[in-house]
Amino acid sequence: MEKVKIVLYGVGAVGSLIAKTLLEKEGVEIVGAVDIAEHKVGRDLGEVLGLSRKLGVKISSDVNAVLSQVKANIAVHATSSFFKDTYPQIGLIVKHGVNVVSTCEEVSYPYFTEPKLAMKLDSLAKKYKVTVLGTGINPGFLMDTLVIMLTAVCQKIEKIEAVRVMNAATRRVPFQKKIGAGLTVEEFKRRIENKQITGHVGLEQSIAMIADALKWNLDRITAEGVEPVIAKQPLESASTKVWAGEAAGLRQRAKGILNNKEIIVLDFQAYVGAEEEYDAVTIEGVPSVRQKIQPCVHGDIGTAAIVSNSIPKVINAPAGLLTMKDLPVPSATLVNMRKYVKTSSRKLH
Ligand SMILES: NC(=O)c1ccc[n+]([C@@H]2O[C@H](COP(=O)([O-])OP(=O)(O)OC[C@H]3O[C@@H](n4cnc5c(N)ncnc54)[C@H](OP(=O)(O)O)[C@@H]3O)[C@@H](O)[C@H]2O)c1
Repeated sequence: MEKVKIVLYGVGAVGSLIAKTLLEKEGVEIVGAVDIAEHKVGRDLGEVLGLSRKLGVKISSDVNAVLSQVKANIAVHATSSFFKDTYPQIGLIVKHGVNVVSTCEEVSYPYFTEPKLAMKLDSLAKKYKVTVLGTGINPGFLMDTLVIMLTAVCQKIEKIEAVRVMNAATRRVPFQKKIGAGLTVEEFKRRIENKQITGHVGLEQSIAMIADALKWNLDRITAEGVEPVIAKQPLESASTKVWAGEAAGLRQRAKGILNNKEIIVLDFQAYVGAEEEYDAVTIEGVPSVRQKIQPCVHGDIGTAAIVSNSIPKVINAPAGLLTMKDLPVPSATLVNMRKYVKTSSRKLH
């Protein structure tokens, strides 16, 4: 059985974790790697991943050259969060006739911010007979796909609420920086204003995906500003100190409004010192559903898993730009990856 051939596009924190996850799987082969970071280009992927062995795959900054030289079935794309930035990158992969699974948050539901660009990418993917999917832990699963799946047991729904609370003390330093942990409140607000801190990207996309699945024609989706969570006492993680009165992290909420009612509410909190970590979904309806995952699912590990687990589903899927709600029920790939790929799939060569 031929292996599923994968090109990595973006070998940063998450791309590296996905690569390591894939290297532990049977039936897959990483045949190419692309990144623009100067200290990675030209080096062996194994070395950049910090492995004690070489993988025989050199990281290149030239995606065209890589995709022309290797025969890839799918590219795992993990470079940035905004669809406007990733559209040219993904478009280029598609033009090589290669499927894409991307961690780009806005690609999880690209019709929300860039409907025209999304339709353009959908047409392009259909023309080249490949599938593009944006996924990850959030957006991609916890606050959208999982929510949508839970609605399956409801006859009526009044309101949906999903809350994710993470203790950033247990996460990597770039994540702590990304949420502003250890900044004065003034500095936190300044960095939000000049977009040095973007906060979590994807709440609106998750709401739009849920609404699309339920065919709720929302009046609007509103995103409340990114608010600092202020430390009441000094807090310390292995790497970041937060003094009382400083920002320990952030809280963001977004709402889907229907007939002037808040019908979908998503609440994301990530800060150093969160006492209880959880992912909770509450559906008020008939019947009501209350689901809680404790502790919350680890973001990076969960993202590496859902991206690699989605690979066969993307290969099996019809051509086009799809979202998680368009694919079969998500599930793990625990044995040889080829066993999950339909033998009839025209996308394996
Ligand atoms: N949906 C989800 O649940 C989820 C979960 C985790 C991460 N994400 C998103 O996934 C993306 C990647 O995350 P990360 O933590 O791995 O970020 P990262 O550590 O910054 O890594 C991104 C890598 O891609 C490289 N890169 C940037 N633009 C490129 C381009 N045009 N061509 C080739 N390489 C390029 C970067 O190089 P430079 O450093 O030189 O720029 C860097 O090496 C982020 O946007 C993150 O927010 C989403």
